[in-house]
Amino acid sequence: MAVKDLTLSNLILSTEDEVTPKVLNAMADTDDARIHEITTALVRHVHAFIREVRPTETEFEQGLDWITRLGQLTNESHNETVLAADVLGISTLIDLINNDGMQGETMSALLGPFYRGESPPCGFGQSIARSDTDGESLLLIGRVLDTNGAPISGARLDIWQASPVGLYENQDPEQADFNLRGVQTTGPDGRYLLCSVVPSGYPVPTFGPAGDLLNAQKRRPFRPAHVHFIVSAPAHKTLITQIFMDTDENMSDDVVFGAKSQICGKLEHHTDHHPDFPDVRTPYATCTYDFVLKPGEPTFPTPPISGKKDKENTNG
Ligand SMILES: [Fe+2]
Repeated sequence: MAVKDLTLSNLILSTEDEVTPKVLNAMADTDDARIHEITTALVRHVHAFIREVRPTETEFEQGLDWITRLGQLTNESHNETVLAADVLGISTLIDLINNDGMQGETMSALLGPFYRGESPPCGFGQSIARSDTDGESLLLIGRVLDTNGAPISGARLDIWQASPVGLYENQDPEQADFNLRGVQTTGPDGRYLLCSVVPSGYPVPTFGPAGDLLNAQKRRPFRPAHVHFIVSAPAHKTLITQIFMDTDENMSDDVVFGAKSQICGKLEHHTDHHPDFPDVRTPYATCTYDFVLKPGEPTFPTPPISGKKDKENTNG
């Protein structure tokens, strides 16, 4: 624990230069060393930012209003706070600090604001399309392996994706609850196979403060087409990632900076019926990707949202 400076404790502020040391000194009794490290670094960096930018009082009010609206627009079917962290590159920076891919494991990618959790189970070869979803059929195919290349039996894949019109089911009253969301568990060969539809790229929601920021910065709000995965297994670090369609032209211009060349799936188009799944309508596409998990403790993220928008609430 840091030692409090009694001189600073007794100081009545009179100049700008006295503010930062006075605030840091006030935090000196923090018991938790990590909280002390984080909060004092936050004060040092935010105070330095303010000294650099020297905001006017009006700009300060506008900044506080921007943060306030992040919370006000966050509800069970929309998370504006996560979206703001995503478009500022914060989510991807934290992701890469904690997941460097150096042990041969699959590269991770940000969770994003659309993960609900508690998706229905989906057997090998079953479909996660729960509405009559237009678009080209897609088979998601691959294996879950350890860093030695051995298949992992009992690995759990939690999948979610946008529809071909670029909306997640929680954004779209026309889609069934949990449409294009599902959970599959691998067998002894580590294989997974899910039927879906080819996702499209989509613009992130722009009706709130994150969108105001993008507009002011003249940025395109688009993400390249992708499917989200959380892949987990006992004694392995949970992998949160996204598999991108390798044909998407927006790969280098992802508004949330999540697209990486290492996590592109191989998208192939077919016109003949699949020999094992003749019910899959033709033409269809396959996206093949093998996931590699490294040893570690499985942990699971808190879902940013929990429910689906009702039909009356269509503004976000
Ligand atoms: Fe997404």
